Amino acid sequence: MGIAVARFNLFLLLFLFCVAAKADKPWKDSPHGPMLERIIPPGFEPRMLPEPSSEGARLTLRYCVQCHNLANPAMHDAGRWPSIVRRMVPRMEGKGNMGKLMAEMMAGVEAPSLADERVIAAYHRKHAQRPLDPKKFPEVNTPTAASFRRVCNQCHVLPDPRRHTAKEWPAVVARMQKNMEWMNRVVGSKPVPGEPQLKIEDINAFLMRHARR
Ligand code: HEC
Ligand code: HEC
Repeated sequence: MGIAVARFNLFLLLFLFCVAAKADKPWKDSPHGPMLERIIPPGFEPRMLPEPSSEGARLTLRYCVQCHNLANPAMHDAGRWPSIVRRMVPRMEGKGNMGKLMAEMMAGVEAPSLADERVIAAYHRKHAQRPLDPKKFPEVNTPTAASFRRVCNQCHVLPDPRRHTAKEWPAVVARMQKNMEWMNRVVGSKPVPGEPQLKIEDINAFLMRHARR
């Protein structure tokens, strides 16, 4: 009797675990799961969202994890977010670029109203990345910053070096290296003509020279 109850509890636990895992990443079980998994790297968890109890955070968690991992609002600058959010909406409606794929795999995906879309976009803008201002950091256009310039704007704008201290930057750059591997961008261990070279030392040196003090 005791064993049966324990076993039942174990199954219940397993079942709940599976349900939770599925609810967390519903797209994982789709035939396109492996492709979708690569769109945004894992690791940015809901609890890391800024102002987690705001309407913007709530709506982001409602709509923006239906097809891929949660994106950090600090990934893009304020200028770019509204168009990115806009690009996602037709997909949630089962239309547009990749609409067929989205429609077949995503029966039951929910699309935001225009009002919700605006809240999501405003939330992302508010917590966005600040782009590097080349007037403040003219070195960015010189050869010493060549690797930084080419490598670090493949996925988002060049970040403001003042965002982090010299002590913090190497860890951020190391995480970006992982993001590049994950998202399948150039990691440049072997030179390919015309492709950006990843010279980590140069990139760290540039960022640390101009870091926040
Ligand atoms: C219906 C599926 C779907 C939903 C829901 C969805 N996305 Fe996407 N998202 C995609 C696909 C497919 C791509 C890859 C193609 C591309 O970049 O447009 C993508 C790519 C991205 C990228 C990486 C490309 C880039 O420009 O940096 C970001 C960031 C992103 N989505 C943010 C969001 C946000 C924010 C939301 C919520 C408003 C959201 N997504 C909701 C399907 C979706
Ligand atoms: C393959 C795409 C990709 C490339 C290339 C890339 N990043 Fe990122 N970056 C991301 C993603 C995804 C995020 C959000 C998740 C995160 O913070 O890891 C991000 C976020 C950031 C942030 C904001 C978060 C924070 O911790 O401050 C900074 C700053 C940043 N990147 C700097 C860089 C630098 C410097 C480089 C060049 C070494 C770089 N990125 C290259 C994908 C990329």
